[in-house]
Amino acid sequence: ISLLDLALGMPKAELHIHIEGSLEPELAFALAQRNGVALPFADVDALRRAYDFEDLQSFLDLYYACAAVLRTEADFHDLMLAYLRRAAADGVVHAEVFFDPQTHTPRGVPFATVLAGLESGAEAARKESGISTRLIPNFLRHLSEEEGFAALAEMAPFIDRIHGFGLDSSERGHPPSKFERLFARCRALGKPVVAHAGEEGPPAYIVEALDLLKVARIDHGVRAVEDAALMARLARERMPLTVCPLSNVRLCVFKDMREHTLPALLKQGLCATINCDDPAYFGGYMGDNIRALQAAFDFDASVWYRLARNSFEASFVDAAQRAAWV
Ligand code: HPA
Ligand code: ZN
Repeated sequence: ISLLDLALGMPKAELHIHIEGSLEPELAFALAQRNGVALPFADVDALRRAYDFEDLQSFLDLYYACAAVLRTEADFHDLMLAYLRRAAADGVVHAEVFFDPQTHTPRGVPFATVLAGLESGAEAARKESGISTRLIPNFLRHLSEEEGFAALAEMAPFIDRIHGFGLDSSERGHPPSKFERLFARCRALGKPVVAHAGEEGPPAYIVEALDLLKVARIDHGVRAVEDAALMARLARERMPLTVCPLSNVRLCVFKDMREHTLPALLKQGLCATINCDDPAYFGGYMGDNIRALQAAFDFDASVWYRLARNSFEASFVDAAQRAAWV
């Protein structure tokens, strides 16, 4: 068995996947037709040609435009089931899935509809492959604190069906400190919180996410390598980083996969994990990330085992479930 097949077949968790970012062009056009919604592209090929990003914002503009085709419970079911089938095929046995309520509720799609569709898609996938799922709504950081509190109020009746809260969207100019009070409220509800930090933003944003938001994981965090004291702290605290290699290359965080800082993070003892972020837009799923890393770095088996163990250690499953996997 090759190292690549070993890595692909190894049971693992995926902890950083935006379900709206798994909307493939074919499904986007099918849903646009089903719902009578227009997409600003002539066809699947024209949309795919637009997947040429220079930074995070240029991606987000397209990601939010395409999300407009998601309207019904069935749409969210289909989206979730399609992603989880792809994940299971790459050895993912557990996925903690992000979604963006504030992208849907202002368009008149109730939170209850989004949640019910994602849950039923997850249940269908569980019956097929056994894959388990947790749902983590993200707050959009380009919106205000007040809008974040309004989104949280809308989710409150469903709190038992939510497994944590996150923070995503445009990082630069929207530091974690903007959401200190909102995240305190989320933690008071008994939920773990996570935040995107140090993707495009500076290492100081990672420090804010730790100290002010009191996150259980950092999403991305690859710019931590610019701050030696922060690196030492992340290693000491075993603070997980959900790293997304293909995403970072597609959004020009790194010019080339060979410049990616994942090997440095691992070498310094950080709990780094690998994830697909927005697989429809960034060149693929867990397996595609594994193939790209192996081509760039030729990791040995111990690295792949380490990454898989880190993914379970960083997950929100209980200790008994974790022990069954590790
Ligand atoms: N970064 C920030 N926000 C996002 C991303 C990302 O990679 N994907 C979807 N929303
Ligand atoms: Zn992300």
